Amino acid sequence: MNILLLGSGGREHALAWKLAQSPSLTKLYAAPGNPGIAEEAECVALDVTDHAAVIAFCGEKRIGLVVIGPEAPLVDGLSDSLRAAGVPVFGPSQAAAQLEGSKGFTKDLCQRAGIPTAGYVRTHSLEEARAALGKFQAPYVLKADGLAAGKGVVIAATLAEAEETLADMFGGGFGGAGAQVVIEEFMEGEEASFFALTDGTAIFPFGSAQDHKRVGDGDTGPNTGGMGAYSPAPVLTPELQARVMAEIIAPTVATMRAEGHPYQGVLFAGLMLTAQGPKLIEYNARFGDPECQVLMMRLKSDLVPILLACATGSLEGVAIDLAGETALTVVMAAKGYPGTPEKGGTIALNDAGADGAKVFHAGTALKDGALVANGGRVLNVTATGANVTEAQAKAYKAVDAITFPTGFCRRDIGWREVARERG
Ligand code: AMP
Ligand code: GLY
Repeated sequence: MNILLLGSGGREHALAWKLAQSPSLTKLYAAPGNPGIAEEAECVALDVTDHAAVIAFCGEKRIGLVVIGPEAPLVDGLSDSLRAAGVPVFGPSQAAAQLEGSKGFTKDLCQRAGIPTAGYVRTHSLEEARAALGKFQAPYVLKADGLAAGKGVVIAATLAEAEETLADMFGGGFGGAGAQVVIEEFMEGEEASFFALTDGTAIFPFGSAQDHKRVGDGDTGPNTGGMGAYSPAPVLTPELQARVMAEIIAPTVATMRAEGHPYQGVLFAGLMLTAQGPKLIEYNARFGDPECQVLMMRLKSDLVPILLACATGSLEGVAIDLAGETALTVVMAAKGYPGTPEKGGTIALNDAGADGAKVFHAGTALKDGALVANGGRVLNVTATGANVTEAQAKAYKAVDAITFPTGFCRRDIGWREVARERG
């Protein structure tokens, strides 16, 4: 089978690496890809907002499955266009991708289905939002409704800061995403991520992970797309995972199906483990980046039949073996990230992969045949071990083998679990 993978990050490199191992793969294409993906796939230039062009490419190359990595093409309805043209696609429809594309949609669904989440109010104007603040206490959680590249959430410590943020959101400071704002109750606890694969009916729990969103060691500094992750996250015990499946994932999939927009793909739940139990923070309609990298390192099964089964409604009974070992990934970013990253810095990977580590490419480019930095998050250095402590040691050994003078990384990925493992 020929497969087309869309995206250019470390998530897509990890997917390409796993797809390329499949005996059922004939040829892998990626658009636009990156230099790491190019080792596994033929990279092609395709405008993913031009649905007709993507469909034409699929016809010409006899593509049997399209795998969509990032959220934007999902929210833009590319899956619907491909399905209408008879091309199987891993990724939810536009209606189902509202679980990521509209925070208000997800909160309303949680309310209808009795899914545990923070109390909330949806507001449509600055006046309405200001008035609603009175129902909440500091810290105030303010969320621009639409896609905002991970920057749509502000936690305001004071009422004055909350009012200022609301004025900014409704004033266009968050683009179209801020036309509606959700105000939420603040939840306390430790965060963890949970992934479930579904074909719209059958659901397969696909493991847990913990991300590190802040740019600096000790979870300091501004939020990023994620500076590192590990999987599994033992804080999400088997008992808690069973609750997440029963109280959050299953009712979501059932409600989406009952309401006429079945969810097909991977459902990525951001969770807060509160004193009352796990509560949903948000959904993403795609794999996490860098969470995907650690999940793919652990996956022992062939990825192609799994993604195809989600796409075609035949997930029931498909073999999915996620190894019990721990995988941990460290993001190496270019100086300046998450602000303006320095581009063009030279990179030498040296023998980083010597001890079984895998270096996934994110924002890299080739310049005169040499590898250079070409984005904020640049490399995802990933290793496995018997526990987080061991995987962390191996990942940093690989990081230290790399020469990347204009790069930086956090030195404490996995710290919560490493501390627990020390006892
Ligand atoms: P989101 O983009 O919805 O995942 O939010 C980004 C981050 O804001 C989350 O990872 C949490 O750290 C934090 N956050 C979001 N909603 C809440 C909430 N209701 N209570 C506490 N923290 C929250
Ligand atoms: N690492 C978080 C995300 O992919 O949304």
